[in-house]
This record gives sequence, C-alpha cells and structure tokens, in this order.
Amino acid sequence: MIDKIKSEIAAVAAFSSSNAEEIENFRIKYLGSKGLLKTFFAAFKDVPNDQKKEFGQTVNALKNAAESKVNDLKEARASQEESKGVYGDLSRPGEPMAFGSRHPISIVKNKITDIFARIGFNVSEGPEIEDDWHNFTALNLPEYHPARDMQDTFFVAKDPDVLLRTHTSSVQVRYMENNKPPIRTISPGRVFRNEAISARSHCFFHQIEGLYVDKGVSFADLKQTLQYFTTEMFGKSEIRLRPSYFPFTEPSAEIDVYWGLETETDHKITKGTGWLEIGGCGMVDPNVLENCKIDPNEYSGFAFGVGIDRIAMLLYQIPDIRMLSENDVRFLEQFKASI
Ligand code: PHE
Repeated sequence: MIDKIKSEIAAVAAFSSSNAEEIENFRIKYLGSKGLLKTFFAAFKDVPNDQKKEFGQTVNALKNAAESKVNDLKEARASQEESKGVYGDLSRPGEPMAFGSRHPISIVKNKITDIFARIGFNVSEGPEIEDDWHNFTALNLPEYHPARDMQDTFFVAKDPDVLLRTHTSSVQVRYMENNKPPIRTISPGRVFRNEAISARSHCFFHQIEGLYVDKGVSFADLKQTLQYFTTEMFGKSEIRLRPSYFPFTEPSAEIDVYWGLETETDHKITKGTGWLEIGGCGMVDPNVLENCKIDPNEYSGFAFGVGIDRIAMLLYQIPDIRMLSENDVRFLEQFKASI
C-alpha cells in the first residue's frame, strides 16, 4: 500500500497542464470527495500499528503535493490568461517596424511654413477644384482678359466655369473674403496647368503663396520679407527683383536669388548667370482688395508665390520633376534622414 502511495506522489510531481479541465480532473482524482486521498485516509484504520506512522506521513505528503500542484497550475494559468488579455504574449519577440520617410515636397513645404511662422504668418488652405471667381475674376482677371491664356487652365465644367486651380492665389482670395486685416498668411498647395510634361515641367506642381495686408504695407516690407526668407531657406541673402507683370499685383516683380557660380551644378541650374529665379511677387492690386471687400484707401498689401517642386529639385539635386510624383520607393527612401 505504501509503495502505491509513493508512486502516486511521483505521478503528482510529474503532472503538468495548462488546460483548465485537465487541472480540475486532476484535483478531483486526488482531492475530490471520492478521491484517492479519501480512500487512503479511510484505509488508515486497517493499517498495522507499527506501520501507521509511516503510512500517515506518506499519505500527508501525497495530500500536500497534490494541493500545491493544483494551486501552482491554477496560478500559472491565471497569469497566462491575464497577459494574453491585456498585452498579448509578452514572451514573443518584437516585430521589426519599417520607418517611413517624408516626401521631399513635404520636407520643403514644412521648412517654408516654419520660416514664415516665425514672423507671424499662419497657414491657409483651399480647394483644388475652384470656381472662376476665386481663380481669375477676383484676382483682376475678368473674362476675356488676355492674361488668362498664361495659365493653361484645365476646365472641369463650363457655365458656370469649374476648373482645377492654376495657382494658390485663389486661397488668398478666400482668406481675404473671410478675414479682416491685418492678414499674414501663406497658402501651400497643389496647382494644375495644362502644360507639356518634361523633365522641367509637369501638369501639376506645388506652390506656396504669401499674403500680407495691413495699414501702410510697402514694397520695402516685401523686399525685406523675401530677403529674410532666402537667407533662412538657402543661406543666401542677395536677391534681385526684376520688373514683371501679374494681373493681381502692381507693381510686380520676378524674384531672383544670387546662388553663386562655384560648382558645375551652380552653372547648370543658374544657366551660367549665378542668378536663380524662384517666383513672382508684387503689391496687391487695389482692385483685388476691393473685390474682397477690403478698402484699398485704408489698407495695402504684398503677395508672392514660389514653386515648391523647383526648390526641392534645387536643394536635393533632383534632375527630373517627374521623379516627385512617381512614388518609386528607391527614390523616396533616400529622404529618410530628413525631418
Ligand atoms: N500666382 C502667381 C503664379 O502662379 C505667382 C504670384 C503670386 C505672383 C503672388 C505675384 C504675387 O505665377
């Protein structure tokens, strides 16, 4: 009999399970009301006196072993359940996470918005599909104005005209209609023009236009602001404003930055002149202010627009504008280190 109990102790020690039903069956087998221990304790009275002590100790050892086994297995199961429920399997190795990278257009856009945020400009956005008023008429480009041809417009519908905006000046009109001066805002966004696609031009690209309207804003403020911008953006402070024409500004100018002629690339991108054209600017035409219900006798303003794609191509030496919209990961991955 004692040998049988000893073999049961060994069986208890060897038992292991994480299954609730198996653990319960194990408990019933040893500790249940009709379990083995009950049987052994009942047999105690028939054991010869000289063996009673050893018998009693062995049955107690079996009881303790069975009880602590059940407790241990139940506890192990409970903590396993808990970790599954809340955290998943904590013992699993971590999964490698692939880091993405920002698109060069976003990097340049963020840089420019940061630079202007520092001097109090907020960011405004508007729809890519525009009406005639916001893209043209309000900007001093009435119907049949010859300068409309400059814009190579994609029309979505006729009468009334619905079109893909050709510049983000349309956002400035919306902003002036809804906000009173002082206004300091920059409008980044995608614009569309029906142009032949080549390494240097695409039928869509990105602009950032800036607008400042307040009492007594002058051309000197415009020049100062652009100089601040080129210094922060390119580390070059020498700029040149060449007289030009835009219907919505008067006077108007083309913005050139002195880039230098130190390397072969400098020669290439500035066509041997050292000067690089980065956008257009001017004093907001009084007609435009009036169209947006701002009194031109009280307020004046300046506006400017720069191309984000061109700047990205310049800064990262991207030879073909089409690379910016192909989304080839081998190209995009190269911008990993940039913020
Ligand atoms: N909207 C002009 C363009 O797309 C750029 C510009 C903006 C010029 C503001 C002057 C003032 O070409």
